Amino acid sequence: MVYLRSYICLLGFIALAAASPTKRRTPMVKDSLAHVPRGWTLHGPAPAHHKIRLRIGLPQSNFAELEKALYDVSDPSSARYGAHLSKEEVEELVAPHPESLDLVEDWLISHGFDVATLDRSPAKDWITIVVPVYQAESMFDTKYNVYKHDATGEELFRTQSYSLPEYLLEHVDVVQPTTMFGRGMRAMAKTSHFQSDEPTAFPPTDNCTNTRITPACLQDLYKTKGYVPKVPGKNKIGVTGRQYVNFADLKQFYQTYVPAAVGSTPDVKLVHGGQNDQNISLAGTEANLDVQYVSGLSDPTPVTFWSTRGSPPFKPDLLTPTNTNEPYGDWLDYVLGHSNEELPQTITTSYGDDEQTVPRDYAVRVCRELAQLGVRGITLFYSTGDFGVGGDSSNPINTCVSNDGTNTTTFLPAFPASCPYVTTVGATTNLTEVAADFSGGGFSNYFPRPRYQSKAVETYLKTIGFEYAGLYNSTGRGYPDVAALGTNFRIIYQGREAGIDGTSASSPTFAAITSLVNDALIAKGRPPLGWLNPWLYSTGYAALNDITSGNNPGCNTTGFAAGPGW
Ligand SMILES: *[C@@H]1O[C@H](CO)[C@@H](O)[C@H](O)[C@H]1NC(C)=O
Ligand SMILES: *[C@@H]1O[C@H](CO)[C@@H](O)[C@H](O)[C@H]1NC(C)=O
Ligand SMILES: *[C@@H]1O[C@H](CO)[C@@H](O)[C@H](O)[C@H]1NC(C)=O
Ligand SMILES: *[C@@H]1O[C@H](CO)[C@@H](O)[C@H](O)[C@H]1NC(C)=O
Ligand SMILES: *[C@@H]1O[C@H](CO)[C@@H](O)[C@H](O)[C@H]1NC(C)=O
Ligand SMILES: *[C@@H]1O[C@H](CO)[C@@H](O)[C@H](O)[C@H]1NC(C)=O
Repeated sequence: MVYLRSYICLLGFIALAAASPTKRRTPMVKDSLAHVPRGWTLHGPAPAHHKIRLRIGLPQSNFAELEKALYDVSDPSSARYGAHLSKEEVEELVAPHPESLDLVEDWLISHGFDVATLDRSPAKDWITIVVPVYQAESMFDTKYNVYKHDATGEELFRTQSYSLPEYLLEHVDVVQPTTMFGRGMRAMAKTSHFQSDEPTAFPPTDNCTNTRITPACLQDLYKTKGYVPKVPGKNKIGVTGRQYVNFADLKQFYQTYVPAAVGSTPDVKLVHGGQNDQNISLAGTEANLDVQYVSGLSDPTPVTFWSTRGSPPFKPDLLTPTNTNEPYGDWLDYVLGHSNEELPQTITTSYGDDEQTVPRDYAVRVCRELAQLGVRGITLFYSTGDFGVGGDSSNPINTCVSNDGTNTTTFLPAFPASCPYVTTVGATTNLTEVAADFSGGGFSNYFPRPRYQSKAVETYLKTIGFEYAGLYNSTGRGYPDVAALGTNFRIIYQGREAGIDGTSASSPTFAAITSLVNDALIAKGRPPLGWLNPWLYSTGYAALNDITSGNNPGCNTTGFAAGPGW
């Protein structure tokens, strides 16, 4: 017995020795794409001396515990409901294992980096490096190229494969931007139809019609009229942006539709070189829409607007390709670096990518960072996108096709809408609230169905049977979770009245109303709602209108139909 036991130990020792770092420096592929993604063309090699910024994600030590805490603090039937974690508690759960930190730092030192000055995320689980292309190519045993987006001419520096020394594979989750061909969070605002010949001033109490939705109409429809926020300042709401919000437009919007709000302005936070140029011809429809409706529905609740770099206007050329930075990490680092008290309790985002253009490992990491905000008591809303069951329609031949080289016809889910730790908002139309035909909705290929929606989704899937079999992933996370009106919103854009459609209108609306609920809770000394979904699917749905008709066509189908319970 004893003998046998030490024999086993010896074998273990041999295995360990064979696995020691010195023996495992061979580069091993971390991620690769078999083909240039559809819609992109390889343009030529990236200039060797051009500097690129790369984020290296180290594995989080204890995400399972973080996820358990997220469910506990968000589930009304749990004893820990509402007991949100602090920034420091969350950082402890996601901090990388010291061994991963040591090995990655030693490797960076061997490539000439000074680890004391490296740029790190608040939990030290991301390290950002800036390197010339030739150095990135040698560190990651890869080749960077310039790829051009066929439909828009946008250019990216990317690779189709990258590697790490074998011993580092388990100590690095992901390095980006490498194989990510997302277009950098497209704005979801759909159409702007300008009514230039109409007068720009309507009295705010003017009647609402299907073709003319104002903040007052939404207050009527969702019965928030007359609620006066009680703890503005303690309660805040945030809007993420990749465009500029114009204050002159905002003032004109208030004068027209929300006279009580005249004089208030959002607190603009510039993230990683973001700007908010007030030249009116640079105003963004998306940014204006989001801020006008968030503030119009929640005033005087203070609004934070984060402007993150990476947005138009830009002038692409071979030396300064657009979107060299990736669109998620900079904002996440920024907000995760602030305490719960500093952050808004409700945040809305009307941007997204086709899920298939964001590499799976990277999408999983970004989704887990969003979970960190949820466990800290922050409610995150994302719009579902405006392409029905299809994807990015900037190039119609790509909207319903897989980009893995097989050109399979498929519905295309959106990200971060598909992340199970956020609340995803679709659009309805008409004051009677019918699902809007452009409203994104479907099932993730990256994230399995979370347990909070098992019952709702399984019941729904029974109603559709084998329809669309093979076009969507019936085991994936289904969305949207909720919907709100999203057509014919009146906004002020570049000094003029405009009408706008999109799930981009719906997410700010749902967020603003949620922030009123948070206001009422906080005023009573109670915690904010936090991550909504476990509450929403168990009891919260009873407070909402069930949208039972309408569908979201795409890919030569009529899409998914709304029905009772989904
Ligand atoms: C608003 O609707 C009411 C009832 O339908 C109608 O009496 C009134 O004239 C309308 N007001 C305007 C400004 O159209
Ligand atoms: C405002 O932006 C437009 C479009 O880029 C530009 O043509 C114009 O010169 C700018 N105006 C000012 C005052 O900078
Ligand atoms: C997929 O489509 C692309 C672009 O149209 C084409 O070049 C490629 O040959 C197709 N691949 C297959 C397997 O059909
Ligand atoms: C919206 O309402 C209008 C008139 O009230 C009606 O004609 C139209 O069919 C409705 N649209 C949908 C999608 O229900
Ligand atoms: C379908 O979803 C599951 C669960 O998320 C995933 O593991 C699987 O890879 C997906 N299938 C395809 C074809 O993407
Ligand atoms: C839709 O149908 C048209 C005509 O039959 C066809 O040309 C097109 O490829 C189809 N699109 C998709 C996404 O299946």
